[in-house]
Amino acid sequence: MIESSDFDFENRIVAPEAIKQDVVDDIDVGLRPKTLTEYIGQTKAKENLKIYIEAAKKRGDVLDHVLLYGPPGLGKTTLSTIIAHEMGVNIRTTSGPAIEKPGDLAALLTNLQDGDVLFIDEIHRLSRAVEEVLYPALEDYSLDIIVGKGPAARSIRLDLNKFTLVGATTRAGQLTAPLRDRFGVVLRLELYSQEELCDIIMRSSVILGIPCDKSGAMELASRSRGTPRIANRFLKRARDYAEVMGNGKLTRDIVRIALDRMEVDDLGLDNLDRRLLRMIITGYGGGPVGLETLAAAIGEEAVTLEDVCEPYLLQLGFLSRTKSGRCATDLAYKHLGIEKK
Ligand code: ADE
Repeated sequence: MIESSDFDFENRIVAPEAIKQDVVDDIDVGLRPKTLTEYIGQTKAKENLKIYIEAAKKRGDVLDHVLLYGPPGLGKTTLSTIIAHEMGVNIRTTSGPAIEKPGDLAALLTNLQDGDVLFIDEIHRLSRAVEEVLYPALEDYSLDIIVGKGPAARSIRLDLNKFTLVGATTRAGQLTAPLRDRFGVVLRLELYSQEELCDIIMRSSVILGIPCDKSGAMELASRSRGTPRIANRFLKRARDYAEVMGNGKLTRDIVRIALDRMEVDDLGLDNLDRRLLRMIITGYGGGPVGLETLAAAIGEEAVTLEDVCEPYLLQLGFLSRTKSGRCATDLAYKHLGIEKK
């Protein structure tokens, strides 16, 4: 039953995280909206943010610390740059794993100017020692630094400029309670609707000079798994097909050809998603099957399946997680065209 996999995760076309080709394509550069007005979707988060920003500006105060959470690829980094732009301040960008020692964080904090935004991506991956330094900085803009060693060690308090921390995480549940409690603004980002993705694709196509009609944009949107990063990636790849196989314009037909060739189906599932569902259905009678067993059967790591495939399959309602394992739902059978026995 074991199928070994040479699946290339670093270039998975439907990955919500940035992949290698995105860097080559500079996928985000130029496409990222710079103001809240330009930013499409996330209406609830956007409307609230607009009010907090306006109120802080009216008071001449810094914006409260902001926590952005939700699945990858939905624009957390983009929103943080918009926040800085709208507040008229600088932004410093880093990530949880990049801040190794308390001293690294102290260096970042002491270099911030009044009102600046410090963006920490993957903030759930900060070490405890670094978090301890962050608490007083967030609470009253001060740093407690230990100087000296042993009995001669003493703590000195350093005043910082006022700043706004924007933290981003895909896993809000993994934040420690004391850290979570220090964010005045907590915003959850949601997967985008097809109409919103269609608007984003039309906007990107204008910026990139890729002719695209509404039907082409809708077809791209419907396969983009609710994620703008995937939509913009598809747009760039589909252009190649339109230029070679069509007249350069992205229409519904050419987009269908392009995505079919990339083996992305009409709901945005790729080979790996389909292999997983098919294995549950044909190998284990539709489930329940334990994640480890399933992973071994298709020759992938359990964590990969959990992080890479399951979120979207769960969201589509194709997969259910029970105490005794994973099950394929009726919708999954229907999508794969397999009759339930
Ligand atoms: N490009 C990527 N995400 C976007 C968004 N939310 N609005 C506009 N353009 C985008």
